[in-house]
Amino acid sequence: MVRKSYVTGSAWLAALVLMSGGCGPPAAVILPELQRVVDLDSDPRIIAFDLKAGPARKEYRAGKPSDVWAYNGSVPGPLVEATVGDELRVHFTNELSEPTTIHWHGLRVPADMDGTHAPIAPGGSFDYRFTLKDPGLYWFHPHVRTDVQVEKGLYGLIVVRDPEEPASLGRERVLALDDVLLGSDGALGGHGGMDGMSSMTGLQGNVLLVNGAEKPTLQVAPGERLRLRLVNVANARYFRLGLGGRPLLLVGGDRGLLSAPRTISELLLAPGERADLLIDVEGESGETLQLMNEPYERGHSTGGGEAHPLLTLRIEGARVVAGALPAFGTAVAAIEAPVRSRALKLTEEVDAMSGMEASFKINGESYPNVTPLAARVGDIEEWTVVNDTEMDHPFHLHGFFFQVIRRGDRAEPFLEWKDTINVAARSSLTFRVAFDERPGKWLYHCHILEHAEGGMVGELTLSP
Ligand code: C2O
Ligand code: CU
Ligand code: CU
Repeated sequence: MVRKSYVTGSAWLAALVLMSGGCGPPAAVILPELQRVVDLDSDPRIIAFDLKAGPARKEYRAGKPSDVWAYNGSVPGPLVEATVGDELRVHFTNELSEPTTIHWHGLRVPADMDGTHAPIAPGGSFDYRFTLKDPGLYWFHPHVRTDVQVEKGLYGLIVVRDPEEPASLGRERVLALDDVLLGSDGALGGHGGMDGMSSMTGLQGNVLLVNGAEKPTLQVAPGERLRLRLVNVANARYFRLGLGGRPLLLVGGDRGLLSAPRTISELLLAPGERADLLIDVEGESGETLQLMNEPYERGHSTGGGEAHPLLTLRIEGARVVAGALPAFGTAVAAIEAPVRSRALKLTEEVDAMSGMEASFKINGESYPNVTPLAARVGDIEEWTVVNDTEMDHPFHLHGFFFQVIRRGDRAEPFLEWKDTINVAARSSLTFRVAFDERPGKWLYHCHILEHAEGGMVGELTLSP
Protein backbone atom coordinates (compact mmCIF):
# COMPACT_ATOMS: atom_id res chain seq x y z
CA MET A 1 0.00 0.00 0.00
CA VAL A 2 2.56 2.56 1.06
CA ARG A 3 5.17 3.47 -1.45
CA LYS A 4 8.30 4.81 0.16
CA SER A 5 9.60 8.12 -0.95
CA TYR A 6 11.99 10.38 0.81
CA VAL A 7 12.12 14.11 0.80
CA THR A 8 14.59 16.18 2.65
CA GLY A 9 13.14 19.38 3.87
CA SER A 10 16.19 21.42 3.06
CA ALA A 11 15.38 22.15 -0.61
CA TRP A 12 12.30 24.11 0.17
CA LEU A 13 12.22 24.93 3.86
CA ALA A 14 14.57 27.82 3.50
CA ALA A 15 12.28 29.71 1.24
CA LEU A 16 9.37 31.02 3.27
CA VAL A 17 8.51 34.67 3.25
CA LEU A 18 9.82 36.49 6.23
CA MET A 19 8.26 39.64 7.48
CA SER A 20 9.38 41.16 10.70
CA GLY A 21 6.97 42.52 13.23
CA GLY A 22 7.41 46.19 12.28
CA CYS A 23 5.03 48.70 13.76
CA GLY A 24 3.68 46.84 16.77
CA PRO A 25 1.42 43.82 16.45
CA PRO A 26 -2.33 44.50 16.07
CA ALA A 27 -4.65 42.74 18.51
CA ALA A 28 -4.31 39.20 17.19
CA VAL A 29 -7.18 36.79 16.82
CA ILE A 30 -5.96 33.31 17.66
CA LEU A 31 -6.72 30.64 15.06
CA PRO A 32 -9.83 28.93 16.49
CA GLU A 33 -9.68 25.27 17.39
CA LEU A 34 -12.51 23.31 15.82
CA GLN A 35 -15.05 21.90 18.24
CA ARG A 36 -14.68 18.10 18.64
CA VAL A 37 -17.71 15.82 18.73
CA VAL A 38 -18.43 13.84 21.88
CA ASP A 39 -18.31 10.13 21.06
CA LEU A 40 -21.24 8.47 22.83
CA ASP A 41 -20.18 4.92 22.03
CA SER A 42 -17.61 3.04 24.11
CA ASP A 43 -16.53 0.81 21.20
CA PRO A 44 -13.38 2.47 19.85
CA ARG A 45 -14.32 1.55 16.26
CA ILE A 46 -17.71 3.25 16.48
CA ILE A 47 -18.08 7.00 16.63
CA ALA A 48 -21.61 7.93 17.64
CA PHE A 49 -22.69 11.50 18.17
CA ASP A 50 -25.63 13.86 18.10
CA LEU A 51 -25.69 16.58 15.49
CA LYS A 52 -28.21 19.39 15.40
CA ALA A 53 -28.71 22.06 12.77
CA GLY A 54 -30.28 25.21 14.13
CA PRO A 55 -30.14 28.98 14.34
CA ALA A 56 -27.29 30.58 16.29
CA ARG A 57 -25.40 33.83 16.54
CA LYS A 58 -21.78 34.38 15.68
CA GLU A 59 -19.53 37.40 15.98
CA TYR A 60 -17.59 37.43 12.73
CA ARG A 61 -16.93 41.03 13.79
CA ALA A 62 -16.54 41.81 17.48
CA GLY A 63 -19.68 43.37 18.94
CA LYS A 64 -21.67 42.80 15.73
CA PRO A 65 -23.29 39.39 15.97
CA SER A 66 -24.57 37.77 12.80
CA ASP A 67 -27.57 35.45 12.62
CA VAL A 68 -26.20 32.18 11.36
CA TRP A 69 -27.23 28.54 11.06
CA ALA A 70 -24.91 26.18 12.83
CA TYR A 71 -24.20 22.52 13.54
CA ASN A 72 -24.16 21.99 17.30
CA GLY A 73 -24.21 25.76 17.81
CA SER A 74 -20.87 26.56 16.20
CA VAL A 75 -19.53 27.84 12.89
CA PRO A 76 -17.52 25.98 11.68
CA GLY A 77 -19.38 22.90 12.80
CA PRO A 78 -17.63 20.08 14.60
CA LEU A 79 -14.52 18.20 13.54
CA VAL A 80 -14.83 14.42 13.60
CA GLU A 81 -11.55 12.54 14.01
CA ALA A 82 -11.63 8.90 12.98
CA THR A 83 -9.57 6.04 11.59
CA VAL A 84 -10.12 4.12 8.36
CA GLY A 85 -12.60 1.32 9.09
CA ASP A 86 -14.43 3.17 11.87
CA GLU A 87 -18.19 3.32 11.76
CA LEU A 88 -19.93 6.67 12.04
CA ARG A 89 -23.37 6.85 13.65
CA VAL A 90 -24.82 10.31 13.50
CA HIS A 91 -28.14 11.10 15.15
CA PHE A 92 -29.14 14.22 13.27
CA THR A 93 -31.94 16.59 14.28
CA ASN A 94 -33.21 19.42 12.14
CA GLU A 95 -33.99 22.48 14.29
CA LEU A 96 -34.12 24.81 11.31
CA SER A 97 -37.37 26.25 10.00
CA GLU A 98 -36.85 24.54 6.63
CA PRO A 99 -35.96 21.06 5.36
CA THR A 100 -32.35 19.98 5.17
CA THR A 101 -30.13 16.92 4.76
CA ILE A 102 -26.49 16.11 5.34
CA HIS A 103 -24.22 15.23 2.47
CA TRP A 104 -20.84 13.65 3.30
CA HIS A 105 -18.63 15.24 0.70
CA GLY A 106 -16.09 12.76 -0.68
CA LEU A 107 -16.98 9.84 1.58
CA ARG A 108 -17.92 6.58 -0.13
CA VAL A 109 -21.19 6.10 1.73
CA PRO A 110 -24.18 4.02 0.55
CA ALA A 111 -26.47 5.99 -1.78
CA ASP A 112 -29.27 6.23 0.80
CA MET A 113 -26.86 7.90 3.28
CA ASP A 114 -25.66 10.52 0.81
CA GLY A 115 -28.07 13.30 1.79
CA THR A 116 -29.62 13.61 -1.63
CA HIS A 117 -32.79 11.70 -0.92
CA ALA A 118 -35.81 12.61 1.24
CA PRO A 119 -35.27 15.97 2.97
CA ILE A 120 -35.60 16.00 6.75
CA ALA A 121 -38.50 18.25 7.75
CA PRO A 122 -38.17 20.89 10.49
CA GLY A 123 -38.28 19.10 13.83
CA GLY A 124 -37.44 15.80 12.17
CA SER A 125 -34.43 13.60 12.65
CA PHE A 126 -32.45 11.02 10.71
CA ASP A 127 -29.78 8.51 11.63
CA TYR A 128 -26.83 8.38 9.29
CA ARG A 129 -24.71 5.30 9.57
CA PHE A 130 -21.78 4.20 7.42
CA THR A 131 -18.18 2.99 7.50
CA LEU A 132 -15.27 5.28 6.72
CA LYS A 133 -13.43 3.56 3.89
CA ASP A 134 -10.76 6.05 2.91
CA PRO A 135 -8.21 8.27 4.60
CA GLY A 136 -8.25 12.01 4.08
CA LEU A 137 -9.96 15.24 4.99
CA TYR A 138 -13.67 15.35 4.21
CA TRP A 139 -16.50 17.66 5.03
CA PHE A 140 -20.24 17.59 5.44
CA HIS A 141 -22.89 20.10 4.46
CA PRO A 142 -26.60 20.28 3.60
CA HIS A 143 -27.87 19.30 0.16
CA VAL A 144 -31.12 21.29 0.22
CA ARG A 145 -30.95 24.95 -0.84
CA THR A 146 -27.27 24.29 -0.52
CA ASP A 147 -26.14 27.78 -1.52
CA VAL A 148 -28.16 29.42 1.27
CA GLN A 149 -27.65 26.78 3.96
CA VAL A 150 -23.89 26.51 3.55
CA GLU A 151 -23.47 30.28 3.38
CA LYS A 152 -25.44 30.56 6.63
CA GLY A 153 -22.78 28.45 8.34
CA LEU A 154 -23.73 24.78 7.98
CA TYR A 155 -20.56 22.83 7.41
CA GLY A 156 -18.39 20.49 9.44
CA LEU A 157 -15.20 18.49 8.92
CA ILE A 158 -14.01 14.91 9.12
CA VAL A 159 -10.42 13.72 9.31
CA VAL A 160 -9.99 10.03 8.61
CA ARG A 161 -6.56 8.74 9.56
CA ASP A 162 -4.76 5.90 7.90
CA PRO A 163 -2.91 3.68 10.41
CA GLU A 164 -0.29 3.09 7.69
CA GLU A 165 0.62 6.76 7.54
CA PRO A 166 3.57 8.03 9.55
CA ALA A 167 2.34 9.01 12.99
CA SER A 168 3.27 12.61 12.37
CA LEU A 169 4.29 14.67 9.39
CA GLY A 170 4.25 17.78 11.51
CA ARG A 171 1.96 19.64 13.87
CA GLU A 172 -1.43 19.29 12.27
CA ARG A 173 -4.10 21.96 11.97
CA VAL A 174 -7.32 21.57 10.02
CA LEU A 175 -8.32 24.80 8.30
CA ALA A 176 -11.72 25.53 6.77
CA LEU A 177 -11.37 28.37 4.26
CA ASP A 178 -14.47 30.43 3.65
CA ASP A 179 -15.80 33.88 2.93
CA VAL A 180 -18.96 35.74 3.93
CA LEU A 181 -20.61 38.91 2.69
CA LEU A 182 -20.97 40.99 5.85
CA GLY A 183 -22.91 44.22 6.15
CA SER A 184 -21.60 46.99 8.41
CA ASP A 185 -24.18 45.91 11.02
CA GLY A 186 -22.84 42.34 10.96
CA ALA A 187 -25.79 40.99 8.94
CA LEU A 188 -24.95 38.18 6.54
CA GLY A 189 -25.71 39.23 3.01
CA GLY A 190 -26.15 37.24 -0.11
CA HIS A 191 -29.10 35.36 -1.47
CA GLY A 192 -32.44 37.09 -1.40
CA GLY A 193 -31.19 40.44 -2.58
CA MET A 194 -28.60 38.92 -4.86
CA ASP A 195 -28.01 40.80 -8.07
CA GLY A 196 -27.73 39.24 -11.51
CA MET A 197 -23.96 39.23 -11.42
CA SER A 198 -23.82 37.24 -8.19
CA SER A 199 -26.23 34.69 -9.57
CA MET A 200 -23.82 34.38 -12.52
CA THR A 201 -20.55 34.30 -10.57
CA GLY A 202 -21.76 32.78 -7.32
CA LEU A 203 -21.59 34.55 -4.00
CA GLN A 204 -18.22 36.04 -3.19
CA GLY A 205 -17.98 37.56 0.24
CA ASN A 206 -16.05 40.56 1.48
CA VAL A 207 -14.55 38.89 4.54
CA LEU A 208 -12.20 35.91 4.29
CA LEU A 209 -12.33 33.37 7.09
CA VAL A 210 -10.10 30.64 8.44
CA ASN A 211 -12.05 28.44 10.86
CA GLY A 212 -14.63 31.21 11.07
CA ALA A 213 -12.11 33.92 12.03
CA GLU A 214 -10.76 36.84 10.03
CA LYS A 215 -6.95 37.00 9.66
CA PRO A 216 -6.19 34.76 12.62
CA THR A 217 -2.74 34.11 14.01
CA LEU A 218 -1.14 30.78 14.79
CA GLN A 219 1.86 30.72 17.07
CA VAL A 220 4.67 28.49 15.84
CA ALA A 221 8.16 27.66 17.05
CA PRO A 222 11.21 28.42 14.92
CA GLY A 223 12.14 25.31 12.95
CA GLU A 224 8.78 23.62 13.56
CA ARG A 225 7.04 21.65 10.78
CA LEU A 226 3.34 22.30 10.21
CA ARG A 227 0.87 20.16 8.33
CA LEU A 228 -1.99 22.39 7.23
CA ARG A 229 -5.01 20.41 6.14
CA LEU A 230 -7.17 22.69 4.05
CA VAL A 231 -10.70 22.52 2.72
CA ASN A 232 -12.44 25.20 0.69
CA VAL A 233 -15.99 25.45 2.04
CA ALA A 234 -16.82 28.74 0.30
CA ASN A 235 -19.84 28.94 -2.01
CA ALA A 236 -17.90 30.28 -4.96
CA ARG A 237 -14.53 31.73 -4.01
CA TYR A 238 -11.37 30.06 -5.23
CA PHE A 239 -8.46 30.30 -2.83
CA ARG A 240 -5.07 30.83 -4.39
CA LEU A 241 -2.63 30.42 -1.55
CA GLY A 242 0.95 31.39 -1.46
CA LEU A 243 3.87 32.42 0.68
CA GLY A 244 5.13 35.07 -1.72
CA GLY A 245 5.78 32.59 -4.54
CA ARG A 246 8.22 30.54 -2.46
CA PRO A 247 8.00 26.74 -2.70
CA LEU A 248 5.31 24.85 -0.78
CA LEU A 249 5.21 21.11 -0.26
CA LEU A 250 1.88 19.62 -1.31
CA VAL A 251 1.50 16.19 0.28
CA GLY A 252 -2.22 15.48 0.19
CA GLY A 253 -5.40 16.01 -1.80
CA ASP A 254 -9.05 14.96 -1.77
CA ARG A 255 -8.28 11.42 -0.61
CA GLY A 256 -5.42 11.83 1.82
CA LEU A 257 -1.75 11.55 0.97
CA LEU A 258 -0.56 11.80 -2.63
CA SER A 259 1.68 9.12 -4.14
CA ALA A 260 4.59 11.50 -3.61
CA PRO A 261 4.96 15.09 -2.40
CA ARG A 262 5.04 17.87 -5.00
CA THR A 263 6.79 21.17 -4.68
CA ILE A 264 4.52 23.98 -5.85
CA SER A 265 4.73 27.76 -5.73
CA GLU A 266 1.03 28.36 -5.11
CA LEU A 267 -2.05 26.31 -4.41
CA LEU A 268 -5.33 26.84 -6.21
CA LEU A 269 -8.13 25.36 -4.12
CA ALA A 270 -11.57 25.40 -5.75
CA PRO A 271 -14.77 25.09 -3.70
CA GLY A 272 -15.07 21.56 -2.30
CA GLU A 273 -11.42 20.59 -2.79
CA ARG A 274 -8.95 19.61 -0.06
CA ALA A 275 -5.17 19.80 0.19
CA ASP A 276 -2.42 19.13 2.71
CA LEU A 277 0.56 21.46 2.81
CA LEU A 278 3.73 20.98 4.80
CA ILE A 279 5.46 24.14 5.94
CA ASP A 280 8.79 24.20 7.70
CA VAL A 281 8.91 27.34 9.78
CA GLU A 282 12.12 29.02 8.81
CA GLY A 283 12.69 32.20 10.76
CA GLU A 284 13.55 33.56 14.13
CA SER A 285 11.48 34.20 17.21
CA GLY A 286 9.67 37.52 16.78
CA GLU A 287 9.23 37.21 13.02
CA THR A 288 6.05 36.31 11.16
CA LEU A 289 5.10 34.42 8.00
CA GLN A 290 2.01 35.39 6.01
CA LEU A 291 -0.16 32.91 4.20
CA MET A 292 -1.74 35.08 1.49
CA ASN A 293 -4.74 34.66 -0.76
CA GLU A 294 -3.94 36.02 -4.22
CA PRO A 295 -6.68 37.17 -6.58
CA TYR A 296 -7.75 34.56 -9.14
CA GLU A 297 -9.68 35.30 -12.31
CA ARG A 298 -12.23 32.55 -12.79
CA GLY A 299 -14.32 34.50 -15.29
CA HIS A 300 -16.70 37.47 -15.39
CA SER A 301 -14.19 39.75 -13.62
CA THR A 302 -14.04 37.75 -10.40
CA GLY A 303 -10.29 38.21 -10.08
CA GLY A 304 -10.08 41.88 -9.15
CA GLY A 305 -8.70 43.27 -5.94
CA GLU A 306 -5.56 42.70 -4.00
CA ALA A 307 -3.90 39.85 -2.23
CA HIS A 308 -5.36 39.32 1.25
CA PRO A 309 -3.57 37.96 4.29
CA LEU A 310 -5.34 34.79 5.42
CA LEU A 311 -3.29 33.44 8.27
CA THR A 312 -0.32 34.82 10.17
CA LEU A 313 2.25 32.43 11.57
CA ARG A 314 3.85 34.19 14.51
CA ILE A 315 7.22 32.67 15.31
CA GLU A 316 7.93 32.52 19.00
CA GLY A 317 9.91 30.54 21.50
CA ALA A 318 12.83 28.16 21.45
CA ARG A 319 14.03 26.61 18.21
CA VAL A 320 12.97 23.05 17.50
CA VAL A 321 14.47 20.63 15.00
CA ALA A 322 11.82 19.05 12.78
CA GLY A 323 14.23 16.48 11.31
CA ALA A 324 14.04 14.73 7.97
CA LEU A 325 10.61 13.80 6.68
CA PRO A 326 9.68 10.14 7.16
CA ALA A 327 8.77 8.03 4.17
CA PHE A 328 5.20 8.50 3.07
CA GLY A 329 2.88 8.37 0.11
CA THR A 330 -0.04 6.30 -1.10
CA ALA A 331 0.38 4.15 -4.18
CA VAL A 332 -2.32 5.02 -6.72
CA ALA A 333 -3.11 2.23 -9.18
CA ALA A 334 -4.35 3.47 -12.54
CA ILE A 335 -8.01 2.79 -13.31
CA GLU A 336 -8.24 0.39 -16.25
CA ALA A 337 -9.76 0.91 -19.68
CA PRO A 338 -13.38 2.08 -19.66
CA VAL A 339 -16.41 0.17 -20.91
CA ARG A 340 -17.94 3.43 -22.11
CA SER A 341 -17.12 7.08 -22.56
CA ARG A 342 -19.32 10.11 -22.14
CA ALA A 343 -19.07 13.80 -22.80
CA LEU A 344 -20.66 16.28 -20.39
CA LYS A 345 -20.95 19.79 -21.72
CA LEU A 346 -21.29 22.67 -19.27
CA THR A 347 -23.13 25.76 -20.51
CA GLU A 348 -24.44 28.97 -18.98
CA GLU A 349 -27.10 31.40 -20.18
CA VAL A 350 -28.55 34.61 -18.92
CA ASP A 351 -32.30 34.27 -19.01
CA ALA A 352 -33.69 36.66 -21.64
CA MET A 353 -36.98 37.02 -19.76
CA SER A 354 -35.61 38.26 -16.46
CA GLY A 355 -32.46 39.65 -18.02
CA MET A 356 -30.71 38.76 -14.78
CA GLU A 357 -31.06 35.22 -13.51
CA ALA A 358 -28.41 32.96 -14.95
CA SER A 359 -29.24 29.38 -15.80
CA PHE A 360 -26.70 26.61 -15.88
CA LYS A 361 -26.88 23.36 -17.79
CA ILE A 362 -25.13 20.05 -18.33
CA ASN A 363 -25.75 18.58 -21.79
CA GLY A 364 -28.55 21.06 -22.36
CA GLU A 365 -30.49 20.10 -19.24
CA SER A 366 -31.06 21.98 -16.02
CA TYR A 367 -31.64 20.08 -12.77
CA PRO A 368 -34.12 18.73 -11.70
CA ASN A 369 -35.34 18.22 -15.28
CA VAL A 370 -32.53 15.88 -16.26
CA THR A 371 -32.24 12.48 -17.90
CA PRO A 372 -30.17 10.28 -15.56
CA LEU A 373 -27.08 8.59 -16.93
CA ALA A 374 -27.25 4.82 -16.57
CA ALA A 375 -24.40 2.55 -15.50
CA ARG A 376 -23.91 -0.70 -13.65
CA VAL A 377 -21.98 -1.62 -10.56
CA GLY A 378 -18.49 -2.65 -11.66
CA ASP A 379 -18.46 -0.45 -14.77
CA ILE A 380 -15.47 1.70 -15.54
CA GLU A 381 -16.30 4.90 -17.40
CA GLU A 382 -14.42 7.75 -18.94
CA TRP A 383 -16.03 11.18 -18.68
CA THR A 384 -14.91 14.20 -20.64
CA VAL A 385 -16.17 17.40 -19.06
CA VAL A 386 -16.31 20.13 -21.68
CA ASN A 387 -16.53 23.60 -20.21
CA ASP A 388 -18.14 25.69 -22.91
CA THR A 389 -18.44 28.79 -20.75
CA GLU A 390 -16.48 31.92 -19.82
CA MET A 391 -16.01 30.74 -16.23
CA ASP A 392 -14.22 28.00 -14.36
CA HIS A 393 -16.45 25.33 -12.82
CA PRO A 394 -15.35 22.93 -10.05
CA PHE A 395 -16.86 19.60 -11.11
CA HIS A 396 -17.83 17.27 -8.27
CA LEU A 397 -19.01 13.66 -8.39
CA HIS A 398 -20.78 12.21 -5.35
CA GLY A 399 -19.78 8.90 -3.87
CA PHE A 400 -16.81 7.95 -6.07
CA PHE A 401 -13.25 9.07 -6.57
CA PHE A 402 -11.99 9.52 -10.10
CA GLN A 403 -8.60 9.94 -11.79
CA VAL A 404 -7.98 12.75 -14.25
CA ILE A 405 -6.11 11.29 -17.22
CA ARG A 406 -6.11 14.22 -19.67
CA ARG A 407 -6.60 17.96 -19.78
CA GLY A 408 -7.49 18.89 -23.34
CA ASP A 409 -5.01 16.79 -25.34
CA ARG A 410 -2.36 16.77 -22.64
CA ALA A 411 -1.89 13.64 -20.57
CA GLU A 412 -2.11 14.29 -16.84
CA PRO A 413 1.36 13.90 -15.33
CA PHE A 414 0.24 12.54 -11.91
CA LEU A 415 -2.28 9.95 -10.85
CA GLU A 416 -4.41 11.23 -8.02
CA TRP A 417 -7.76 10.40 -6.46
CA LYS A 418 -10.15 13.33 -6.77
CA ASP A 419 -13.83 13.96 -6.12
CA THR A 420 -13.80 17.62 -7.12
CA ILE A 421 -11.75 19.09 -9.94
CA ASN A 422 -11.58 22.53 -11.46
CA VAL A 423 -12.48 22.67 -15.15
CA ALA A 424 -11.07 25.97 -16.37
CA ALA A 425 -13.10 28.25 -18.63
CA ARG A 426 -13.15 27.11 -22.30
CA SER A 427 -11.29 23.90 -21.52
CA SER A 428 -12.01 20.23 -21.12
CA LEU A 429 -10.68 17.40 -19.05
CA THR A 430 -11.14 13.66 -19.00
CA PHE A 431 -11.30 11.37 -16.00
CA ARG A 432 -11.89 7.71 -15.30
CA VAL A 433 -14.13 6.37 -12.58
CA ALA A 434 -14.77 2.82 -11.43
CA PHE A 435 -18.23 2.30 -9.96
CA ASP A 436 -18.01 0.00 -6.98
CA GLU A 437 -20.76 -2.00 -5.29
CA ARG A 438 -22.95 0.90 -4.20
CA PRO A 439 -26.00 1.03 -6.48
CA GLY A 440 -28.48 3.88 -6.37
CA LYS A 441 -28.94 7.45 -7.46
CA TRP A 442 -25.87 9.68 -7.43
CA LEU A 443 -25.41 13.34 -8.28
CA TYR A 444 -22.64 15.24 -10.00
CA HIS A 445 -22.53 19.01 -10.17
CA CYS A 446 -20.63 22.22 -10.20
CA HIS A 447 -19.50 23.04 -6.64
CA ILE A 448 -20.11 26.75 -7.07
CA LEU A 449 -23.25 26.38 -5.05
CA GLU A 450 -25.22 29.08 -6.90
CA HIS A 451 -24.43 27.29 -10.16
CA ALA A 452 -25.67 24.00 -8.75
CA GLU A 453 -28.85 25.64 -7.45
CA GLY A 454 -29.13 27.29 -10.88
CA GLY A 455 -29.31 23.87 -12.51
CA MET A 456 -25.74 22.68 -13.15
CA VAL A 457 -26.41 19.25 -11.63
CA GLY A 458 -26.79 15.85 -13.25
CA GLU A 459 -27.85 12.44 -12.04
CA LEU A 460 -26.42 8.98 -12.44
CA THR A 461 -28.38 5.79 -11.81
CA LEU A 462 -26.16 2.90 -10.88
CA SER A 463 -27.95 -0.41 -11.12
CA PRO A 464 -26.87 -3.61 -9.37
CU1 C2O B 1 -20.01 19.12 -1.46
CU2 C2O B 1 -23.07 17.75 -3.80
O1 C2O B 1 -21.52 18.40 -2.68
CU1 CU C 1 -20.29 15.71 -2.54
CU1 CU D 1 -20.02 26.49 -11.95
